[in-house]
Amino acid sequence: MYTLNEVKNFCLYCKKCRLHKTRTKLVFGEGNGNADIMFVGEGPGFYEDKSGRPFVGAAGKLLTKMLNAININREEIYITNIVKCRPPNNRNPLEDESKACLEYLRWQVKIIKPKIIVCLGAVSARNIIDKDFTISKNRGKWIKKGDFFVIATYHPAALLRDESRKRAAWDDLKSIRSKAKELNIF
Ligand code: URA
Repeated sequence: MYTLNEVKNFCLYCKKCRLHKTRTKLVFGEGNGNADIMFVGEGPGFYEDKSGRPFVGAAGKLLTKMLNAININREEIYITNIVKCRPPNNRNPLEDESKACLEYLRWQVKIIKPKIIVCLGAVSARNIIDKDFTISKNRGKWIKKGDFFVIATYHPAALLRDESRKRAAWDDLKSIRSKAKELNIF
């Protein structure tokens, strides 16, 4: 068994895909190393790549607000991404890049042992839940996977692009809050 810091160190020197060549900083993930809830996005964007922290740009600010709306502080949970290095020009991670990086996410899950995993957007859901996952059809449904429950909702960047999705996202957030209560997390 490794510690989160040890896994982060593996990532720092990882050359399993091309993304390490173009990134500025590794964005491993941050938050509570014993969190009961883990949020998983797609990959670092411009500001994340500069700062080394996940979800700090516009989408990140919205994520923080969404969490606060259900009385969760960022510090209580753990936030990470499918890929830990920024894809050039914020393109979606390619399949081989996601596959290569999933090993690190698996370690993060093994170490943190969350009870709930929330996939933000289709890239996250396709890698964690099902390769054919579509957010519009399958968001908001709970699935039991191994030791945790998993749900997918809109990526906050998608909510910034289309405000009409906010109502459904709010339903998902309330469902996350209820599941957390049911599991005695709060
Ligand atoms: N979008 C993501 O998917 N992850 C981040 O860390 C920032 C934006």
